[in-house]
Amino acid sequence: MRVWTVANQKGGVGKTTTVVSLAGILAQRGKRVLLIDTDPHASLTAYLDYDSDGLDATLYELFQAPRPSAELVKEITLKTKFENIHLLPASITLATLDRIMGNREGMGLVLKRALLQIQDHYDYAIIDCPPVLGVMMVNAVAASDRILVPVQTEFLALKGLERMMKTFEIMQRSKKEGFKYTIVPTMFDKRTRASLMTLKSVKEQYGEAVWPSVIPIDTKFRDASLLHVPPSIYAPGSRGTYAYQTLLQFLDALEKKEQLERAP
Ligand SMILES: Nc1ncnc2c1ncn2[C@@H]1O[C@H](COP(=O)(O)OP(=O)(O)O)[C@@H](O)[C@H]1O
Ligand SMILES: [Mg+2]
Repeated sequence: MRVWTVANQKGGVGKTTTVVSLAGILAQRGKRVLLIDTDPHASLTAYLDYDSDGLDATLYELFQAPRPSAELVKEITLKTKFENIHLLPASITLATLDRIMGNREGMGLVLKRALLQIQDHYDYAIIDCPPVLGVMMVNAVAASDRILVPVQTEFLALKGLERMMKTFEIMQRSKKEGFKYTIVPTMFDKRTRASLMTLKSVKEQYGEAVWPSVIPIDTKFRDASLLHVPPSIYAPGSRGTYAYQTLLQFLDALEKKEQLERAP
């Protein structure tokens, strides 16, 4: 099972959209995908048509057990209307975890331990993050093989990105192998100067870590979310879906290359 986290400390940059888009495409290809909503606002949970207030158990329950069992993870996991897509849902109570257990030993590894329990059940786990650096993001990053950082191509995006990268550096000190991350330019509008200039600066500053293509502005994303359907299922031929397919190809090739480099 590959574990990807989609994170950026800024809201509204396309995190949740990236998670659902990638999941939709992978699921249509027959891959078994587990989505994990760590955002107390539960946008991913709502996207998949669940009301987090009405759920018996959510990720919050997982965090009540520092070493969650496979049974507990399975108990919390929900099926969705979409074949091959399962969900570990969020709840508003997740927001209290920072205060309750922010400093408790081992709290940063709960999600990692939970995913290890069920790693044979899925091909991919994709984690959606809240726009805050807290227990949830630390858990997500610790559990994942790769971090995808959506960056909205508009002025001021770079400031937020710098902050995010500093955060990664701090977290990196506690992880042996370091992080692999890929910056994903989103909501790109080639007619605007802001989009073009931001893209140029992001590439200058982060070079190889930037995916060479972009996710364009596409109104189909909003339509798909209103209907609670992954974009690739709602609008298979759309520009946006095509862009996320290209991103997946890129990540596939990149991870194959990394695997070869690791081999003796
Ligand atoms: N490429 C895009 N083109 C147009 N609208 C987009 C695009 N990506 C996301 N959106 C819309 O922007 C809003 C914020 O996106 P979302 O994925 O929820 O961001 P985040 O999870 O980072 O807060 C949503 O309404 C979503 O439908
Ligand atoms: Mg979101």
